[in-house]
Amino acid sequence: MEFYSEKQQIVAIIDVLKAKQLTLGLVPTMGALHEGHLQLVKKALNNNDKVVVSIFVNPTQFDNKEDLKKYPRTLKRDMDLLRTVSKDNIIVYAPTVDDIYEGKTVSQSFDFDGLEFEMEGKFREGHFNGVGTIVKRFFDIVKPDNAYFGEKDFQQLQIIKKLVEKFHIPVHVVGCEIHREASGLAMSSRNTRLKPAYKKAAPFIYKTLTAAKERFGTNSANTVLEWVENQFAKHDLLELEYFIVADAETLKPVKRKSNKKSYRAFIAVYADDIRLIDNIALN
Ligand code: PAF
Repeated sequence: MEFYSEKQQIVAIIDVLKAKQLTLGLVPTMGALHEGHLQLVKKALNNNDKVVVSIFVNPTQFDNKEDLKKYPRTLKRDMDLLRTVSKDNIIVYAPTVDDIYEGKTVSQSFDFDGLEFEMEGKFREGHFNGVGTIVKRFFDIVKPDNAYFGEKDFQQLQIIKKLVEKFHIPVHVVGCEIHREASGLAMSSRNTRLKPAYKKAAPFIYKTLTAAKERFGTNSANTVLEWVENQFAKHDLLELEYFIVADAETLKPVKRKSNKKSYRAFIAVYADDIRLIDNIALN
């Protein structure tokens, strides 16, 4: 498996692949890979000749310094996992902060037509400018035909589609279903940091989401919201940050339901100091 940490090297190798007219997939990650990431990589391998997996804990998308410091960094293990998927067709690109940011670790400011002000945008200041900045850089460097993102970060996926549309980037953005542990807990690199009691409690998030989906069939968005807030108010370990029923397209909270629209429920919960997010299609 090829490994590059310098922009110059990866740019040179991409030029060679492009000259051979090979199709290229990109799976951007922050490492600490789990089965959810591997599913994205497998999907990318099925649809492209070569797949670049970027591994980079992007400092500009963290609003919380402690979270950035504690974010798991497991490059060797990540490489071993990727090797189990393909030895020949994966290229790992793991730049250093200085190399990719060229000494200026700041975000560009984006206008994502309001998508950036909802949910995660309200609770994580500057987060989507950081995500937009790094993903745009990866698109510029890797020039992928297809790029793969998980639906666990559904808002991020919508924002990346908007980025591609606004900057006319010639890449097909592919959203991939949330991969869950047997307990229903959405797979996340942060799950490894959950203390045992919180790990045991965390599947309550998805359980509540599926129950909310069922309730949404016959109740208003507001009634479902109150019900979910109540469930978490009674919970000893998990602290609800937000639960929102939103239009899947605009991500704006739903006031009145219409059967012509697609809705999704979004949730963010603190399990001790670990912030977990999840979402579910409602109709
Ligand atoms: O979803 C993530 O892991 C990150 O936000 C991404 C897309 C790799 C950008 O740093």
